[in-house]
Amino acid sequence: MSSQIDIPASFPRFGDVSGKRVVVTGASRGLGRLLASAFSQSGARVALVARTERDLKAVADELPGPSLVLPGEVTDEDFNEAVADATVAEWGGLDVWICNAGISPIVAGPRKTDPSVWREILEVNLTAAFLGARAAARVLGDGGRLIFTGSVLGDRPREGLAAYSASKAGLVGLAKSLALDLAPEGITVNVVAPGWFDSPLVEPWKNDPERGAAVLAHTALRRWGAPADLFGAYQFLASDASAFVTGTVLNVDGGYLLV
Ligand SMILES: NC(=O)c1ccc[n+]([C@@H]2O[C@H](COP(=O)([O-])OP(=O)(O)OC[C@H]3O[C@@H](n4cnc5c(N)ncnc54)[C@H](OP(=O)(O)O)[C@@H]3O)[C@@H](O)[C@H]2O)c1
Repeated sequence: MSSQIDIPASFPRFGDVSGKRVVVTGASRGLGRLLASAFSQSGARVALVARTERDLKAVADELPGPSLVLPGEVTDEDFNEAVADATVAEWGGLDVWICNAGISPIVAGPRKTDPSVWREILEVNLTAAFLGARAAARVLGDGGRLIFTGSVLGDRPREGLAAYSASKAGLVGLAKSLALDLAPEGITVNVVAPGWFDSPLVEPWKNDPERGAAVLAHTALRRWGAPADLFGAYQFLASDASAFVTGTVLNVDGGYLLV
C-alpha cells in the first residue's frame, strides 16, 4: 500500500474571488474603500456599508462591477439583518462578510478617556462585528467566509489606545470562538490584522513627525503599508484556497510585531 498523498488533478485557483458576493463594512473610505475596489476589480459583487450614503455612492460609481449601496449604522442589530436580507434579495445569497468598519477617535490615557468613549469604541469595533457575524451566519452557506479587520495594536498596543487595543484583541477572541461555533456549517472565521496603513484613521500619527517616526521605527520594513499591500490577505481568506483556514490571525504589518 502506498503511503504517498494522492496529488489532486487541480487545486483551487489561489485568490480567485470572481463571482463572490461580498459585504464590506466601512467601505466609504480608507481600507474599506480599497477592499471594495480590489474585490470589484477581481470580479466580485460588493455590498458597500457605512453611515454616509453620499460617500458610498461615490465609491459605487468608481467600481468597475456591480455593487449595492447600503447606508446604515453597524452597531444597529436590525441594520445588520437588513444588509443580510438585501444581499439575498439582490443576489440570491452571500459568500463573504467583511467586518471592517472601525474607529479610533482619541489618543489619551485612562483618565482622559471618558467611559462613554470607551463604550463607543467597543460598540463599533467589537459589538458591531458580533452583530454582523450574527446576521451573516443566517445567510452564509457552506463555504461562507467571515473576515474581521483587526489590528496589530490588539496584539502589541501603543500608549493611549486602551479601548482600541482592547476592541481589536477582543475581535481575535470573537473570531476564534465563532470559528468553532460556525465550523459545523462550513463557515470559516478569520482576522486580518493590518499594521500601519495610510488612511484617514491614522492621520494623527502620519501628520505628527514624532509619532510618524515611531511607526516607522517599529515597522521592520521601515515603511507605511501601501494600498497594494492589503488586498492579498483578504483575497486569500475569501477564496476557495483558504477552505481549511479558520480561527487564525493574518498579520499584514511589515513586521511590526517583530520590532
Ligand atoms: N489604517 C490603518 O493603518 C489601520 C491599521 C489597522 C487596523 N485598521 C482597521 O481598519 C478598519 C478601517 O480603518 P480605516 O483606516 O479605513 O478607517 P477610516 O478611513 O476612518 O474608515 C472607517 C470606515 O468605517 C465607517 N464607519 C465608522 N463608524 C461606523 C459606524 N458606526 N457604522 C457604519 N460605518 C462606520 C466609516 O464611514 P462613515 O463614517 O460614513 O460611517 C468609514 O467607511 C478599522 O477597523 C481599523 O481599526 C486600520
